[in-house]
Amino acid sequence: MNTIYSVLSGEESDKEIYKKAGDIIRLGGLVAFPTETVYGLGGDALNSEASGKIYAAKGRPSDNPLIVHIAELSALQAITESIPEAAYRLAEEFWPGPLTMVLKKNDKVPYETTGGLDTVAVRMPEHKAALEFIRNSDGYIAAPSANLSGRPSPTNAMHVKADMEGRIDMIIDGGAVGIGVESTIIDLTGAVPMLLRPGYISIDMLEAVLGEVEIDPAISGDLTLDVKPKAPGMKYKHYAPKGELFIVKGEAGSVADRINQMTEEAKARGVKAAVLATKENEHLYTCDIVCSVGERNDEESIARHLFGTLRDFDDMSVGLIYSEELNTPRMGMAIMNRLLKAAAHRIIEV
Ligand code: TXA
Ligand code: MG
Repeated sequence: MNTIYSVLSGEESDKEIYKKAGDIIRLGGLVAFPTETVYGLGGDALNSEASGKIYAAKGRPSDNPLIVHIAELSALQAITESIPEAAYRLAEEFWPGPLTMVLKKNDKVPYETTGGLDTVAVRMPEHKAALEFIRNSDGYIAAPSANLSGRPSPTNAMHVKADMEGRIDMIIDGGAVGIGVESTIIDLTGAVPMLLRPGYISIDMLEAVLGEVEIDPAISGDLTLDVKPKAPGMKYKHYAPKGELFIVKGEAGSVADRINQMTEEAKARGVKAAVLATKENEHLYTCDIVCSVGERNDEESIARHLFGTLRDFDDMSVGLIYSEELNTPRMGMAIMNRLLKAAAHRIIEV
C-alpha cells in the first residue's frame, strides 16, 4: 500500500491530500507530516486513544508528553487554563515558528496527551503543509518527532518511511525540512521562564523578548548528573546511532591527528570506522569514510544535516564514529545537545 503523498508541487490536487489526512485524524488514525524543524507523527490531540496509538507506533514510554500543534492563536486559549502575558509576547515574535511553550492545560486536553502532567506543550509550526494539515484536522494535532523511539529525528519523508512504514496510515511528503533540530521548548508555568530544550530560537533571542530566562540544569543531558529534566523526553538516550560515537575536542589539527590515529587502529582491528567532520576540515582526515555534516561558517547547514548524517552511518553499518565538536556560535547549544546525547557523553579531549 502506498502511504506517501507528496505536496511538493503545491498543486490544486493537494487539497484532496489534506482532506484525506483530516479524515484519517477524525477517525483516530495517524498521519506523519513535515514541519520546519523535523517531521512529526500526528494524531488528534483531544482524543486519548489517538495519543495511545502514537506511543505504540513510536515504541515510546507513555510518561513522555506530546507537543500539541495548532494553526491559530485562538486554539491556544481553547486548551489552556490561563495564558501569561509572556506567552503572547513570544507568540507575537516567534509564531508560527520553532518555539514550543509549556502552559497550564485545561480539561479539553486528555492526560494521555500530556503524559499525566497538568501542563501542555503547544507550538504553531511555520510550514505550509503542517498548517494546512492542522486546519483540515480540526485544529489540534499531537505530534512527537516521527522516528522510532531512540532513532534520530526524521528530516525527510524517506526517514519517516524507514521507521514508520506499516505502523501509521499516511505520510505527507513536503521535502527536506529547513531547520533540522527540534523546536526550542520554554516553560512558562513558573515565576521565571525556563528553557527546557535548546533549538533554533536561542537563549539570547528569548531573553530579548522576556528579560531573564533560566536554563533547566538537566539540559546538558548528562545522565550521570542527578537532576531530573523538566521535559521528560530529555532524560532518554536519544538519537543513538548503532555505532559507538565519540566526540573529539580540541584544536582542529590535533583533533584530526588523534582521529586519524584511532581510525587507522580500528581498520587494523577490522572495525569499520567513520568520521563526522565539517566541510572546512574534511581534507584533514585519512579514514575511508568521512562525512561532512555542513560548514562551520554556515551553522544552519550543520543543524539541517546532523540527523540525516547519523542515519547514514547506520545505513553503512559503521561500528565506530569519531566526531568533531560542533560548538557553533548561535545554534551550538542546540546542536551539541543532540550530538552529546548521540555520543552518550563520550568525549575525548586532545
Ligand atoms: O520541533 C518539534 O518540537 C517536533 C516537531 C514535530 O514539532 N516535535 C518534537 O516532539 O520534537 P518530541 O515528542 O520528539 O519532543 C517533545 C519534547 C519531549 O522532550 C517532551 O518531554 C517535552 O517536549 N514536553 C512535552 N510536553 C511537555 C510538558 N507539558 N512539560 C514539559 N515538557 C514537555
Ligand atoms: Mg523526538
